[in-house]
Amino acid sequence: MPLGLLLSGKPSGALYTIAKVTGKARHKCTPGSVTLRPIQLTSQSKSTPMNPVKPKTESELDGMRLAGRLAAEVLEMIAPQVVVGMTTGEIDRICHDHIVNVQKATPAPLNYKGFPKSICTSVNEVICHGIPSDSKKLRSGDIINIDVTVIKDGWHGDTSIMLGVGDVAPHADRLMRVTQECLYRALALVKPGATLGDLGAVIQQHAEGNYYSVVREYCGHGIGQVFHEEPQVLHYGRAGTGLRLEPGMTFTVEPMINAGKRYTKLSARDGWTVTTRDGRLSAQWEHTIGVTQSGCEVFTRRLDEALPF
Ligand code: MF3
Ligand code: CO
Ligand code: CO
Repeated sequence: MPLGLLLSGKPSGALYTIAKVTGKARHKCTPGSVTLRPIQLTSQSKSTPMNPVKPKTESELDGMRLAGRLAAEVLEMIAPQVVVGMTTGEIDRICHDHIVNVQKATPAPLNYKGFPKSICTSVNEVICHGIPSDSKKLRSGDIINIDVTVIKDGWHGDTSIMLGVGDVAPHADRLMRVTQECLYRALALVKPGATLGDLGAVIQQHAEGNYYSVVREYCGHGIGQVFHEEPQVLHYGRAGTGLRLEPGMTFTVEPMINAGKRYTKLSARDGWTVTTRDGRLSAQWEHTIGVTQSGCEVFTRRLDEALPF
């Protein structure tokens, strides 16, 4: 049972970002007619039925630091290689080979609940969990999310970026930028005593303030030796509600923001690819972070990434 928030009602097989909001914790969060029932939380530093999120020890956090660095390094490596005409299958192969042969690590998505590739590549109206394919050629004007999760020494690092391919329309650039701002505004609020509702609220406010919508069915997630664990990190909500953060908690924030309406469609064909119902663009950025005594540590920060907080 996922905790953080228990969704009463429909136990769909959600993945957190593979967790759909709910049921069997895959990764993203679950839909529609479900109601969210906040659990009661205490400030003790262990996992209990009332507080399912156990802070990590300093040596465990070292594991997260290394895994996060490697995941970020895959994106640093692949980003400059993504060009018009390349296929998402090639991107997957380059990342897979780098993770396995150079990093001596494991691509977490490969065979995860049956996922067939080593990374996710989500182009244009694909929200998340796009399956890399040798028949999917990138064209000028496309926007692509590349989502990498590596396992090193048993620990997970999970991160994604958006890239524009060739000549990208201003409206698409703006969607990518505002989505990254949503991530940064949420991370800027992370500190002991803040709540997950604070993060969701600021993301929702910034997205909707720019006339975009927030995907509800998929969410961020706790992460550690388990790819997707409690809590579910919703990208919408109300300030002051939800899990209260404590030093040592580790989770992802990975807002999926749509240019049009928020509604999603899961491919019946492959069981993975999530697209916007209205066919309009979607963007996503993701980091894996840890709560510190005074703020947050971004385990997946890229070397050229200046954090605005
Ligand atoms: N990286 C995704 C996340 O952010 C999960 C991908 S798992 C896969 O949680 F099976 F879809 F690859
Ligand atoms: Co994730
Ligand atoms: Co991810």
